[in-house]
Amino acid sequence: MSDAPLIPLFDVQLQQPHLDAVADTLRSGWLTMGPRTQEFEQVFAEHLGSRHAIALASCTAALHLAYLAAGVGPGDEVIVPAITFVATAAAARYCGAEPVFAEVKGTHDLGIDPEDVQARITPRTKAVCAVHYGGYAADLAALREVCESAGVALIEDAAHSPSATPLGDSRKLGTHGLSGCFSFFSNKVLSCGEGGLLATDDEDVATRARSLRSHAMTTGTWDRHRGHAPGYDVVGVGYNYRMDEPRAALLTARMADLEDDIAARRKLVHRYRELLADLPGVSLPYEDAEVDVSSCYVMPVIVDDHDLRDPLRAFMLEERRVQTSVLYPALHELSAYAGPARELPRSELVAHAELTLPLFPTLAEDDQDRVVSALADGVHSLTRTGAAAGG
Ligand SMILES: Cc1ncc(COP(=O)(O)O)c(C=O)c1O
Repeated sequence: MSDAPLIPLFDVQLQQPHLDAVADTLRSGWLTMGPRTQEFEQVFAEHLGSRHAIALASCTAALHLAYLAAGVGPGDEVIVPAITFVATAAAARYCGAEPVFAEVKGTHDLGIDPEDVQARITPRTKAVCAVHYGGYAADLAALREVCESAGVALIEDAAHSPSATPLGDSRKLGTHGLSGCFSFFSNKVLSCGEGGLLATDDEDVATRARSLRSHAMTTGTWDRHRGHAPGYDVVGVGYNYRMDEPRAALLTARMADLEDDIAARRKLVHRYRELLADLPGVSLPYEDAEVDVSSCYVMPVIVDDHDLRDPLRAFMLEERRVQTSVLYPALHELSAYAGPARELPRSELVAHAELTLPLFPTLAEDDQDRVVSALADGVHSLTRTGAAAGG
């Protein structure tokens, strides 16, 4: 057991302007959704190049509203990748629909496979959700074709991918489908603790999302506070999915650093890729060129002998004090989503072989070297142990 300090999977370091933005907001006396939320929406919409940006309490809320606005309802199906965070699927269930899991392309690309999506479309399919895994674009051109020919909505789960694009296409992720859903959860590329946003160019989707985020009320508290509206009607069953002002102020302040943060992430990912390129026993998804258009939310590694993945994680944490994670367990292998006829061998392989290394803009190169040594030594010693036990 090493006594070296723990290298965490992610770290958030706020600067003085970020703290000032929050403190100013707290001093202003207006805390719930209001002018700072509007300002953040404007800044984010401009940055994305989308007509509408609707700030929300979380990306989960954004997915829920995106599915509802796409017409997803009881008895419908939403096709989602088997490798994603559970929110992508749970939001379908919130609508009374059932998530249908599609394969990812493989260990070289952890995005949803358009051919498998095509094969899983039924008359009940209402939407397909493309997750841009780790900030790397899903195969949007092919997915758009599949969705257009089937007449179903394409939703983007862009939780990991602010400011990223597909290779060879300058339009940002989150602007290619009917709606794009972003997360500002603590460990994300742009974070405020808890928060999300739905981006869309579609007027109806925007109107619906704005209404449903605040109980389908016809006016907001801020409008009434300013005397712009005397009262309100309620025109449906909505939710409290509002963002509040301190979070919005923090996000606007942090937007100024977003490109620098992503550039630092990309540099670290290129360095990881160089250091790990010739390491036997592990392989790296994606290509170098894709790193330059990705938001580089995480650094995924595939352990070729997937039986070694969990002992390797234990070695890295216990012997070398390096935190790792698994992004993600396959959804159909979780109790709430298990079911008959859910065999997805490529997704299962990824779920059992992937491990995620520490990555955040301020990760020091010395610490990155420690991560790489921990991984290399772990693979080496576990492979030897395995070989000795086997032979
Ligand atoms: C792919 C993906 N979708 C959705 C979410 C949900 O985001 P939030 O925590 O903002 O609801 C996450 C969060 O981790 C995610 O990784």
